[in-house]
Amino acid sequence: MNLVLYVWRQKNAQSAGQMVRYDAKNVSPDMSFLEMLDVVNEELIAKGEDPIAFDHDCREGICGSCGVMINGQAHGPKKATTTCQLHMRSFSDGAEIYIEPWRAKAFPVIKDLVVDRSSFDRIIQSGGYISVSTGNAADANALPVPKSNADRAMDAAACIGCGACVASCPNGSAMLFTSAKIAHLNLLPQGQPERKERVLNMVDTMDAEGFGSCTNHRECEAACPKEIDIDFIARMNRDYFWASLTYQKPSARGGGE
Ligand code: SF4
Ligand code: FES
Repeated sequence: MNLVLYVWRQKNAQSAGQMVRYDAKNVSPDMSFLEMLDVVNEELIAKGEDPIAFDHDCREGICGSCGVMINGQAHGPKKATTTCQLHMRSFSDGAEIYIEPWRAKAFPVIKDLVVDRSSFDRIIQSGGYISVSTGNAADANALPVPKSNADRAMDAAACIGCGACVASCPNGSAMLFTSAKIAHLNLLPQGQPERKERVLNMVDTMDAEGFGSCTNHRECEAACPKEIDIDFIARMNRDYFWASLTYQKPSARGGGE
């Protein structure tokens, strides 16, 4: 396959970026999208040019680091597929492919296709830890969890923190990500002691990081490679509302911090 790539090149967060054209020749349809970029980069390095910076780690849909916009779609045209799992056979010979970084105020560009997603880390950090001493692995039936809750907690835990939901949302909202991270603990017995504090802190941090609000476009759900659904957002809103009415800081209720 021969392809024409238009790739966003930007030296650093301060400089202005631009789309640059590259010809990708003799691309195997069985290459992954990242392998195709590797080959383009090898050619750039051989010519003494700066290779295209892009993020990646596991290359098997687990770590969440590889996301880019491909022809305006987060992670490209295939449903439930990360950029590293996308194969070149999903494109036709001679195709023009536009490759851009995630675009969101809370994800500033570091270089080319690499963005700073540490705002996600800060949301997770603000959720704190669970105080339950879990010890050794318990017998499976020692702490009964309703099957439906276990299944939903597992669905939520599938979020890999890639940021496609934010990049696809016209509001740059991180509510799908945040709600998944909140739900996977709030649905389980171990997550109950800090349930209210967790949702309040994580939503407040999400807002402080500059993410927008959800106005039900559902682009996040369509783009999510792990098919996280927006019911989690409704659950988070319900938890937040309930916690804002009923949560008292330990100091306010007479306990120690
Ligand atoms: S909710 Fe989906 S799109 Fe958003 S960070 Fe998690 S895995 Fe990625
Ligand atoms: S490189 Fe880890 S999910 Fe793509």
